[in-house]
Amino acid sequence: MRLRRTLIAAACVAVAIPFIATAQDADTEKGIEKYRQMLRKDPWTNPGLLDADRGEILWKTPRGPKNVSLEQCDLGKGPGKVDGAFAELPRYFADADRVMDLETRILWCMEKLQGFNRADLVKRPHPGGGQPIKELGAIATYVASKSSGLKFAAKAELPKEKDAIALGEVLFNRRSGPFDFACSTCHASSGLRIRLQGLPFLADPKEAREVVGQWPAYRVSSAHVMTMQHRLYDCFWQMRMPELQLGSELSVALIAYLVKMAEGGEISAPGLKR
Ligand code: HEC
Repeated sequence: MRLRRTLIAAACVAVAIPFIATAQDADTEKGIEKYRQMLRKDPWTNPGLLDADRGEILWKTPRGPKNVSLEQCDLGKGPGKVDGAFAELPRYFADADRVMDLETRILWCMEKLQGFNRADLVKRPHPGGGQPIKELGAIATYVASKSSGLKFAAKAELPKEKDAIALGEVLFNRRSGPFDFACSTCHASSGLRIRLQGLPFLADPKEAREVVGQWPAYRVSSAHVMTMQHRLYDCFWQMRMPELQLGSELSVALIAYLVKMAEGGEISAPGLKR
């Protein structure tokens, strides 16, 4: 009986270890924070801005089989209106009859306006370590940067918008996959970490407002900008779930939920991550 209790206690500790911050971690975290502050002091040092510039050129250049630019793409505020558009996404688009986040909308415009093949665009949509962000992601970085300084203000009044948020909440809390993880396993309490990576409490509006508006973000350790779809794709991989498809209803629902949690939070894209 005693042995069994000891074993159970040992197992609990083993499971808990990745989540316990040590004094050494705290020092390292301080060091990383100092580095972030130095970069923040001079925002022009953020390499993500180069991708925002690349995205702007891509947005304005006639491309694809139909050889047109994205300047007719309606991000919700009218064709070609980029300023402030990201702050009101995700939203319902009548032409597609569905709710879309920024990347899903750009994907839609690249397909419908420019004639790109959707299957090609979603096959390997995210860059590997050290590779530059792909074109769709660079365009998303540009558009998001044009809402920098604004607050998340998606209206979320229409039934389909409310449904997307509700679905996102269910998915966020639903355990699944071979590890039986939910997003909430790692992201629903304060102060958790895996190794050096802090795990924000994303179901808490206070913490969500701090981090959600930083995406797309330049991620120093992989030397490229990562979009929100890419971030979730990686968290799905950590959960050993089937690959998260860019533009899928599931990905949009999760983003709609995260943005709802971050409502009123400031957008500072492209942000900067470890
Ligand atoms: C096994 C633990 C784990 C699970 C489960 C998990 N994540 Fe994560 N998540 C992480 C880690 C680790 C990071 C930080 C990675 C880094 O620092 O590079 C992260 C980062 C994030 C971020 C960025 C946070 C920031 O600091 O800006 C978001 C958003 C996010 N996850 C959403 C999700 C969602 C949504 C799910 C469910 C689909 C999920 N995560 C499931 C471990 C997890």
